[in-house]
Order: sequence, then C-alpha cells, then structure tokens
Amino acid sequence: MREQLEDIKREAVAALGGAGSVAEIEALRVRVLGRKGRLTEILRQMGSLSAEERPRAGQMVNAVREELTGAIEAKLEKLSKGEQYERLMRESVDVTEPGKRAPAGKAHLLTQAYRDIREIFMGLGFQVREGPEIEYDKYNFQLLNMPPNHPARDAQDTFYMTPDIVLRTHTSPVQARTMLSEKPPIRILSPGRVFRVDDIDATHSPVFMQIEGLVVDKGVTMAHLKGILATFAREYFGEGTKTRFRPGFFPFTEPSAEVDVTCIGCHGEGGNCRICKGTGWIEILGSGMVHPNVLRDCGIDPEEYSGYAFGMGVDRIASLKYGVTDIRLLYENDLRFLKQF
Ligand code: DAH
Repeated sequence: MREQLEDIKREAVAALGGAGSVAEIEALRVRVLGRKGRLTEILRQMGSLSAEERPRAGQMVNAVREELTGAIEAKLEKLSKGEQYERLMRESVDVTEPGKRAPAGKAHLLTQAYRDIREIFMGLGFQVREGPEIEYDKYNFQLLNMPPNHPARDAQDTFYMTPDIVLRTHTSPVQARTMLSEKPPIRILSPGRVFRVDDIDATHSPVFMQIEGLVVDKGVTMAHLKGILATFAREYFGEGTKTRFRPGFFPFTEPSAEVDVTCIGCHGEGGNCRICKGTGWIEILGSGMVHPNVLRDCGIDPEEYSGYAFGMGVDRIASLKYGVTDIRLLYENDLRFLKQF
C-alpha cells in the first residue's frame, strides 16, 4: 500500500508539474482526491488490513492527501494569478491612449449664409418672421398687387395645390402676413424656402432659398433703403464693396430697384472677369418702396406710412461669396463639397 501511495503521489506531482491550466489541475484533483479518485479507492482497501495496521495506513493516506491538496492549491493560485494577469493585460483599456474623434457635423453652407445675413440685419434692428411654404394665392400674389391674370405671375409660375393654394414663389407673402397682423413700426427679416416651375441648371432650381426684408414706418424713404442695403453689402461681402441701384420692376414696389454690388471676383475692375462677365457688377437682389396698393390692402394707410422692401436669393448670394459656380452643388449633399465651408 505504501508503494501504491508513493506511486500516486509521484504521478500526481509529475502531472501537476506539467499542468498548464486551471482546468487541467481541476481534472487532476478530481482524478486523485475526488470522491471516486485514487486515494479514496485506497481507503476502501483498508478493510482488508489488520486492526493494528489500519491507523498507520490511515495516517499515510491522509499525509499524502494533505501534501497533494497543498501542492494543488499552491499551483492553482499561481496559475490563476497568471491567467488573471494575462486576461487583464489582454482586456485592459489604455486610458492614456489618445481618443478617436467622433466626426462633428456642421451647418450646411446655405444655413451658414442665412445665419451670417441674419446676424447683420439683427444688428440693424430687424426681427425674424416666418411664413408657410404652402401659401394662399391671396398672400403670394393678390395682396402683393398681382391680381389673377396679372402678367407678372408668368415669371413666377409655381405648383398649385388647389386653384387657391400654391407653393409660395417668394418670401414676399410674409410681408402681407406681417402687415395684416402687426402695426407699424415694422422691421422684419423673413427667410425660407420658395418654389418655381424652373428646370434645374447651374443657376436655377425649382426649390431655393430667399430672404425678405420689410420696413414700414412714418417717413421711410428710398434713402433708408439705400443705406441699409449698402451697409449690408459691405458687411457681408467686405469693406470695399460698393452698391449700385438700377431701375427695376416689381408689382409690389414703386419705385423698384435692382441692386448690384461690385464684383467680388475683380472688385469692380471688369476686364475679362468671368464672374461678372466684365461688367464689374453683380446683381444681388430686388427692392423698392412698398406700393401704396399693398399697404392699403394690408390695412396700412399709405398717407400716413411708407415702407421699403427687398428680397434676395440666399443660394445666389452664398454662391457668389464662396465662388460656387453651380447651385446644384448646394442640394446634392456631397460631403466632399459641403465640408469645404
Ligand atoms: N419677391 C421678388 C422675387 O422673388 C424679390 C423682391 C423684389 C422682393 C423686390 C421684394 C422687393 O421685397 O421689394 O423675385
């Protein structure tokens, strides 16, 4: 029996030495020390021993059991520490590593342009008013001095939802809405999407963005309009920018003016500048003194009050400023383009 025990011990110690994982050692423990393990087997043989031999045999078995248990425990601890360490190393997070930057979005060029323009006019005392994109014919045309069948409607053909409801062709209906709901002094800026039946090309889009301005008060003159627009042009396009007013026609203003600024490409030099086609000037908006009919129809006495208005295409103005030669780029949402601004 002593020999058997010695064998078991030797084999177990050898196996322990060669064991490389916690799982292997657990298996060994079951095999040797377990309920059906080899040591238990030997204890069972004790029945065949004499009464004197039994206690000594018992002691021997226990001594081996203790020795092996100790060795297994020690090895287990060593191994599991190693495994733990390894796992920690494998799964550890290096908090000192530089982080990955999440891509930050930013405003679309048109939004940026609108915000810049709004900033300038807010500094001049304007407040923002918005109106619906789906608009009554009444506000889009009639109250702006364009009765049914007025020829000026041709230039602003649009999408009719019903005979009375259209996709607005300009932001000017917000003028009418504001005059009908607020009392002068009125000093508003109105941004938004507008719609026309236009084929898409480098300078046209059936959907584009406008900003409207309206000022109504006592004693408002064309000089005020010129002052405000010249200030705006200098602030938006740069200090040296000059402004030029040309006679124009809009049914809702009288007199009407189209406003040009010195070309941002050649600074008014002309020559063979491609941006202004050599004229030195670029048109940026339409404007004028609010027509007395419009004031009257919107409940404001033209004998007492006068006003000016202007409307600009944001697409056009932003494209000019940033040298965008095709407005389709503004709508295609190609990040390679948009990221540049
Ligand atoms: N609504 C005009 C358009 O879309 C632009 C415009 C011209 C607006 C003159 C105005 C204005 O307020 O006074 O073509």
